[in-house]
Amino acid sequence: MKTVSTFNGARELADGRVGLVPTMGYLHEGHLSLIETARSENDTVVVSVFVNPMQFGQQKDLETYPRDAGRDSALASDAGADIMFTPSVEHMYPFQHRTVVSVGTVAEGMEGAHRPGHFDGVATVVAKLFAGLQPDVAYFGRKDAQQLAVVRALVADLAFPVSVRGISTVREADGLALSSRNVKIDETNRATALSLSTSLMLVADAFEAGERKSRVLRDIVRQSLALSQQLAVDHVEVARSADARTVDAIDAEAFVAVAGTVGGVRLIDNVTLDPSTGTADRGTRLTRPSILYGGS
Ligand code: PAF
Repeated sequence: MKTVSTFNGARELADGRVGLVPTMGYLHEGHLSLIETARSENDTVVVSVFVNPMQFGQQKDLETYPRDAGRDSALASDAGADIMFTPSVEHMYPFQHRTVVSVGTVAEGMEGAHRPGHFDGVATVVAKLFAGLQPDVAYFGRKDAQQLAVVRALVADLAFPVSVRGISTVREADGLALSSRNVKIDETNRATALSLSTSLMLVADAFEAGERKSRVLRDIVRQSLALSQQLAVDHVEVARSADARTVDAIDAEAFVAVAGTVGGVRLIDNVTLDPSTGTADRGTRLTRPSILYGGS
């Protein structure tokens, strides 16, 4: 695997069909599953690692975001990446940065409401990665379902010739969706954190048993979460996968999203529901502790 830090350098190395996995580094098994899928579908796999200042609300969050270039490089290479793209902030945002990509209503609810400006930062950096690296396919986790909708919207609106693939959430063995934030959840808060995925598995069961009404699915989540008094729930929503618009009933692919804070750690999770097959994507589960906790 080669590491480059300019768009030109990455384009010169890429050959044939190019798959891009955009990341902010500190890789875990969720990223590795994107890289492995990209490996199986492309000639060249590019993994970008860029902690994007534009998508952080708080300077402190940006400064404390975990970074470990050596670890990322070893993991990406083992998972099959050919190129690691690590631009500097100056390369990504040269001079006075003027253009901001804003996808409108797709970015307004749920995470967009909680983190104003966040999705403008995501859409802008993803648009730059697409323009600068010119991938044929780009891979994103379904865990960030609204982000996936934002990316699909920008590709459609700006006519990027990139196909976007949403890949199933990877969960820890107990069901907690993988996130670099999981390391901040201590033993006392772990059971509370698990209430998110537990409630979503109940939704998946209800959907697969035929329930299509959003109100009923939301109530299932709320009632299940009500048992966890330590959890401060931000939102429980049912939204279309295509544009993150909330819906009253599921007649096209949709996701049930939940967000909340436990012990000062904000967590999000969702399940994707597909009425054309009547099945829910519950994600996959690790069978051993995540590499986030220092294992290999
Ligand atoms: O999901 C992430 O890690 C980031 O939001 C992304 C897509 C790499 C853009 O910075």
